[in-house]
Amino acid sequence: METRDSNQDSPLIQLNGLSKVFYTEEVETHALSDIQLSIAPGEFVSIAGPSGCGKTTMLSILGLLDSPTGGEYLLDGEPVANLTAAQRAKIRNQAIGFIFQAFNLIGDLTVYENVELPLTYRGMPGSERKERVQESLERVGMAHRVRHYPSQLSGGQQQRVAVARAMVGKPLILLADEPTGNLDSKNGNAVMELMKELHDEGATICMVTHDPRYSAVADRTVHLFDGQVVDETDPERSAHAEDLVKSGFEG
Ligand SMILES: Nc1ncnc2c1ncn2[C@@H]1O[C@H](COP(=O)(O)OP(=O)(O)O)[C@@H](O)[C@H]1O
Ligand SMILES: [Mg+2]
Repeated sequence: METRDSNQDSPLIQLNGLSKVFYTEEVETHALSDIQLSIAPGEFVSIAGPSGCGKTTMLSILGLLDSPTGGEYLLDGEPVANLTAAQRAKIRNQAIGFIFQAFNLIGDLTVYENVELPLTYRGMPGSERKERVQESLERVGMAHRVRHYPSQLSGGQQQRVAVARAMVGKPLILLADEPTGNLDSKNGNAVMELMKELHDEGATICMVTHDPRYSAVADRTVHLFDGQVVDETDPERSAHAEDLVKSGFEG
């Protein structure tokens, strides 16, 4: 995505009265209703809420994998409804990194090839691809497994590779849907540590998580219920909570 004109103060993501209705057989499911949400560049937002409340639907729309049925989505000030299919695909490839709960690596490709794929789609020259892939895999501690296939890795290792794939293209926005949901706490913590580092380096992150320890890492948590935003944690209160944690308060 071209960002040269973007204003640091204006939101990177802006949802205005956004809704999504799924029509199946005779059932209408209102997955999202009248969502108002604004995410600033560099912000780390977590999304929480019970199963079925619309979290995945919201990330899919944010990631241009799906379209809303109502309302407006402005990405870097630009209504995404105006984009052509080719422009959407380009933004997905260049500006957005995805991390899923189930890793979603391609089983027929090696670790190296999985991470290289988004760069190959971009038409990046081989030598540059190699450098980037190597750097990303080192970053997540998986450079010693380049020739392995996903099935030969543990869940934690697969998710680290998925993080490398999401960040290899240096996306503006990282979207993560319960990235620690299938991991034990040690591997979950390692993945969260990486997310935190990426955030510290300026990435804008939107992450669905059920784990309050992990949402506490975010700048703010948006609570969804039945497709609606019901609450946003007060950033000052979270900052206070963080201080308490730092000072060793466990009560
Ligand atoms: N492709 C689809 N077709 C029909 N209904 C769907 C589809 N995707 C999601 N839904 C429905 O939309 C609601 C929100 O789903 P989802 O966004 O997956 O929730 P969450 O990720 O919070 O568990 C649910 O009621 C779900 O059944
Ligand atoms: Mg979901």
